[in-house]
Amino acid sequence: MLTAEQNRLLTETGPDTPGGQLLRRYWQPVALSEELPPGGAPLPAQVMGEDLALFRDDAGHVGLLGLHCSHRGADLSYGRVEDGGLRCLYHGWLYDVHGNCLDQPGEPAGSDFCRKVRQLSYPCQEANGLVLAYMGPGEAPLLPAYEFLTAPEGHAYVNKVHHECNYLQSNEGNIDPVHLSFLHRFLKDDQPRIVRGTAETGYYTLMGRELAPQIEIEETDYGLRISAVRDAGSGKRYLRVTNFVFPNFASFPGNTGGDGFSVNWHVPIDDTHHWKYQIVYKRSQPMDLEKARRQAAQELDESYHTYRHRGNRYQQDRQEMKTTTFIGMGSMFAVHDKFATEGEGAIQDRTTERLSYTDKAIGASRQLLLQAIRDVQEGREPPHIVRDAARNDFSHMVVLSEAIEGSVDWRNYWKTGGTQGAKVSAAALATAGSKS
Ligand code: FES
Ligand SMILES: [Fe+2]
Repeated sequence: MLTAEQNRLLTETGPDTPGGQLLRRYWQPVALSEELPPGGAPLPAQVMGEDLALFRDDAGHVGLLGLHCSHRGADLSYGRVEDGGLRCLYHGWLYDVHGNCLDQPGEPAGSDFCRKVRQLSYPCQEANGLVLAYMGPGEAPLLPAYEFLTAPEGHAYVNKVHHECNYLQSNEGNIDPVHLSFLHRFLKDDQPRIVRGTAETGYYTLMGRELAPQIEIEETDYGLRISAVRDAGSGKRYLRVTNFVFPNFASFPGNTGGDGFSVNWHVPIDDTHHWKYQIVYKRSQPMDLEKARRQAAQELDESYHTYRHRGNRYQQDRQEMKTTTFIGMGSMFAVHDKFATEGEGAIQDRTTERLSYTDKAIGASRQLLLQAIRDVQEGREPPHIVRDAARNDFSHMVVLSEAIEGSVDWRNYWKTGGTQGAKVSAAALATAGSKS
C-alpha cells in the first residue's frame, strides 16, 4: 500500500514531474523501426506527455523533434522529408535531426535568422528494430549493452501493444511471478505452443500444478533479480528467474524459455496510456520472424491495438474457461496482461490495495523507484545510468526457466548462465549485486 503522494510520485510522467524526470534519465523506446521505413512519412508521437514528431531523414537517420514548428507552431508530423531534414509545410522551414534550422526560404537573402532558431530535439539510436530516445537533461548516457539490443540481426522480434492505463501497473504485472499460475493458466498440457521452459515438461504442469512458488528477490545494480521456485516433480525444482530493470521494463524467459530473453518495456504515452514494447530474442539461432508476425497478427491490428479490448470485454468466452484457459481470453499473454492491468483503473489506486507475499518484488521495486526519484530531486545520479564503457556489461542480467535437481543451489544457479547458453562474464560477476 502506498500513500496518495507516493502513488502520484510513481505514476506521473510529464516533464515537470519527479517521476517523469526520473524516466527521462534513461534511454526509452519511442517507436519501432518498421514504423519509419526509408523514404516513409513522419509520425506524430506522444511520449511521457510530450507531443513530438518522428522522422527518418533522407540519409536514414532518425530524428525526434517537438511536434510544433518553432516558427508559428504548425504540426511537423505532416512535413516533407527532404534536403537533409524535415520541412514544415506552412512556410518551409527545414530542421535536421538535431533540431538545427537549415533553411528559411521565405526570409530575405542574407538573413542569418536561421542560426538563431533551434527546434526541440532529442537524440535517437536504433537497435534491433527499436528506435530509442534520450529525453533527459545533459549528456545522454550510453545505451546499456543488453544482450537483446546487441544481438545479431534476425535474432530479435519486436512489436508493441497499446494499453489504456498507467505504465507502472503493467510493469508491476511483469514482476509478479504468481499470476502465471492464474491469469495465464492453461487447463491442460495438450497444446504444443504452450510447452516451454524445459523440453519435456508442459507449461500447465509447471505453472498450473504448483500455485504457490517460493519467491526470492535480490537487489542488483540494474534493479532486482527475482527467483520463483516450484516443485517440478521427480525431486526436481522448476526455477524461473526474471528481472526488474530500472526504471520501466522487465526481462523474463517468455517464448524462448531462457534461450535468450523476452522483454516488456512500458513507455508512457501520457499518465493514463502507454505502449508496451515487446522484444523476443533467441540466443541460439535466428527467430522465425514471419511466424512471430503471423502469431501477433491474430490478436494485434496494424496500429498495434489488440482486437480484444475493454469495449468488447476482451471477447471473454465462458466455454473456453471450462475447457482451455483459466480466463477465457484466448492464448496470447499480452491480451491477458492488458485485461488485468487495464482493469486496475487508468491509474491504479495503490492506497487501498493489500500487498501479499507474492508481491515481494513489487514492493521492493517501488522503494527503489522512490529512492531514485529522491536521488534526482536532490541532484544525485539515479541507479543504472551507464557512462563507463568498461562497465557496460549486463551479462549478469540472466533469465532462466529450468527444471534443476533438488540438490542444486538454486539461489546461485543463475551465475552459471543455466543450460540455455547465457554467458555471465567474470567482470559482471565481480560487480553483480553492487548498487552502483
Ligand atoms: S509554422 Fe513552420 S515554417 Fe511557419
Ligand atoms: Fe503476464
